[in-house]
Amino acid sequence: MPLDIVVGAQWGDEGKGRIVDLLSAQADYVARYNGGDNAGHTVTVGDQTFRLHLIPSGVIHPHTIGAIGNGVVINPATLLSEIESVRAAGVPLDANRLKISYAAHLITPGHRALDAAQEAARGGEAIGTTLRGIGPAYADKVARSGIRLGQMLDVGTFGEALQVHLLSVNQRLQELYTAEPLNAQAVIKEYLEYARQMKNYIGDVSTLLSEALKSGKRVLAEGAQGTLLDLDHGTYPFVTSSYPSAAGALIGLGLGLGCEQRVVGVTKAFQTRVGAGPFPSEVFGSIAERLRGTGEHPWDEFGTTTGRPRRVGWIDMVLLRYAGRINGLTELAITKLDILSGLEEVKICVAYKADGQTYQNLPLGPSDLGAFSPVYETLPGWREDLWECRTWESLPPAARSYILRVEELSGVPVRLTSVGPEREQIVEIA
Ligand code: GDP
Ligand code: IMO
Ligand code: MG
Repeated sequence: MPLDIVVGAQWGDEGKGRIVDLLSAQADYVARYNGGDNAGHTVTVGDQTFRLHLIPSGVIHPHTIGAIGNGVVINPATLLSEIESVRAAGVPLDANRLKISYAAHLITPGHRALDAAQEAARGGEAIGTTLRGIGPAYADKVARSGIRLGQMLDVGTFGEALQVHLLSVNQRLQELYTAEPLNAQAVIKEYLEYARQMKNYIGDVSTLLSEALKSGKRVLAEGAQGTLLDLDHGTYPFVTSSYPSAAGALIGLGLGLGCEQRVVGVTKAFQTRVGAGPFPSEVFGSIAERLRGTGEHPWDEFGTTTGRPRRVGWIDMVLLRYAGRINGLTELAITKLDILSGLEEVKICVAYKADGQTYQNLPLGPSDLGAFSPVYETLPGWREDLWECRTWESLPPAARSYILRVEELSGVPVRLTSVGPEREQIVEIA
């Protein structure tokens, strides 16, 4: 029963979308299992660039069936406009090719307003969320007062559920945050129209994928965000509100244990983070500008969803070993190796120091990362442009040494590296 899971091994934006696109060539089903439109997954095919927030990146391959699992929270406005833009780009996409779990939860303008109000109230302690209403939507789900997509199938009860939800949101907005209430009738009208447009997409994703796996079809699960943003296993409280880690794929798609085969951890050749929270190997100044880029290239380090500049640093092996353990990674894909070209030397954070002690692994998980400073190993850089490299042998020796060192230190075999954003710019490593 071959389920392959693609998971972010860092703080998101590792290049999961392009790795999912690559692996989807061999998949029958491609399924998103967590998060919402806080995600931004970029796939570049020739002169076309897709920036997907909710739809699984693998649907760009027309032979696949896309699925969105119960672990996802859905903003219907984003979903419907994304379906339109994917279609406009020439990819056939209709209710026969995309199924969304009846148990996925809805994001409403109420959740977005609460996200903004809560961030404002946090002041200097703000998380730096994407303001997409993710936290409040999952909070309602956990509080058992959320609205599931399945409720859209019965217009009468859906309208009533929205009414109750908006009453509660408006109470919270006014009483807790002295924010403006929403116009409930306008939101209900808007959402009843979404229900009409979405009803054919809503189905039983758990059964669909379980049956597919039973009959030997290949399912590829696409994670959003990354291990260090995992609600339980990330840098809490600077995390998202879902489970990006590999186990989240089983919960978030409604699959039983034991069907997974490959768990592919995607990591950049360096480290980035967008939003607040600890980042021991963060760098500043000219080296940061070099890793981030200036924004002139589409792959420069500015958020796909929010456009915010990403914080950058050297790759961190303490955290990558942790991601290997939390996810049970069977392999690594290292993206953006090309960005390191031209650096005199490249650094790898191999351990942490705190209070005169050296730590190879985190004593208490990543939440108190702020207390540690990085211990670096320095490797020689390489000058060559990697853009045209397609084989292991064609990579400069220093780039190969770098990858082998990451493999050795992380304890996870590196199977792929990418040398540019385009679909073909991949080096497979035997
Ligand atoms: P995701 O959220 O994990 O899917 O990653 P994003 O799409 O948010 O961010 C990754 C960015 O890096 C996108 O702009 C990709 O096009 C780009 N990218 C991915 N792989 C490579 C690579 O090997 N080289 C370069 N230069 N850009 C890449
Ligand atoms: P992809 O799937 C990078 C970050 C936000 C913030 C924190 C909480 O493209 O890798 P949220 O809106 O989820 O409540 O914000 O999580 N974050 C991401 N960072 N990539 C993402 O998605 C992210 N999704 C959320 O910046 O720090
Ligand atoms: Mg992204």
